[in-house]
Amino acid sequence: MLGQELLVWYAQNGRSLPWRRDRDPYRIWVSETMLQQTRVEAVLPRYEAFLAQLPDLPSLAAVPDERLNKLWEGLGYYSRARNLKRAAIAIEALGFFPSDFETLRKLPGFGPYTAGALCSIAFGQRRAAVDGNVLRIVSRLRAVEEPISLPSVKREAADFCLSAMPEGADPGAFNQALMDLGALLCTPRNPSCGACPLSARCQAFAGGNPALYPHRAPKRARVQERFAVYLFIQDGRALLRKRPSNGMLNSLWEFPHHLEPGPEIIGEPLLEFRHVFTHRIWEMRFFLAKPPRNTPEGCVWLNAEELIALPMPSAMAPMREMALKAL
Ligand code: ADE
Repeated sequence: MLGQELLVWYAQNGRSLPWRRDRDPYRIWVSETMLQQTRVEAVLPRYEAFLAQLPDLPSLAAVPDERLNKLWEGLGYYSRARNLKRAAIAIEALGFFPSDFETLRKLPGFGPYTAGALCSIAFGQRRAAVDGNVLRIVSRLRAVEEPISLPSVKREAADFCLSAMPEGADPGAFNQALMDLGALLCTPRNPSCGACPLSARCQAFAGGNPALYPHRAPKRARVQERFAVYLFIQDGRALLRKRPSNGMLNSLWEFPHHLEPGPEIIGEPLLEFRHVFTHRIWEMRFFLAKPPRNTPEGCVWLNAEELIALPMPSAMAPMREMALKAL
């Protein structure tokens, strides 16, 4: 049976990851939230650090937003961190950590994936947890021709996972076995079908070119923006601005850009840097510029220590490094 073969493979090849050491729902929830849009390698160094600072629900529910953003720095998609805190407040109000799928689904940030992952991994319930890895595996096993963005394809993948889950097996182990198979063998490009325990049952493998799956709807072109970013230095301090409290990268700090009127720049660019977001590309040139006479609206002068402590988007990280050298 497909599920048994997968579990045997997982027992021998599964990764030893820090969130697999216990079944504490809080810790598993934090890991699954971090892992949703961020690679395992990027999460690993951040996970323990986050839990050292916010070891339990009460500490997360009470954390100031600025500190939370700092703990999330570099992981991207900061709305995940805000939802974590909002859900922690809601769970605190409930008085217990819910283990019921429908109750979890009503909490901020709990889509079918997070609720399914928590129910199966922390609470041992028979629930599917369909992330990108799992969708890719199921699309290949069944040679699914529809694009994986379709809700029906996701639902059918969840049904398939449940039907493949052996009776009596640990549902959390089964779901994580699929995640590891997707990360280690059934990779997007050049899958290692020779080592795969499921290749004999894989319709895409039988068809001869498994990398043709999954099918995706054509991507929207990313919006490309080019702009100058300014480093103003005065009395050992750099000028920083806080982004508005709504919209993209909200409440994070950045070096000023899009200033009207543009400031007087000094010399060649210190740095040229390109940052690719999901739907957007920023092409930036970072200039040293003559400090303005009056501090522009929303900006503050900060010393090196304060600059390090602020939550800043990854798109500005190289500029912070450069500014710190100049301070
Ligand atoms: N990606 C999402 N959840 C994961 C988990 N529990 N283990 C490994 N990779 C994952």
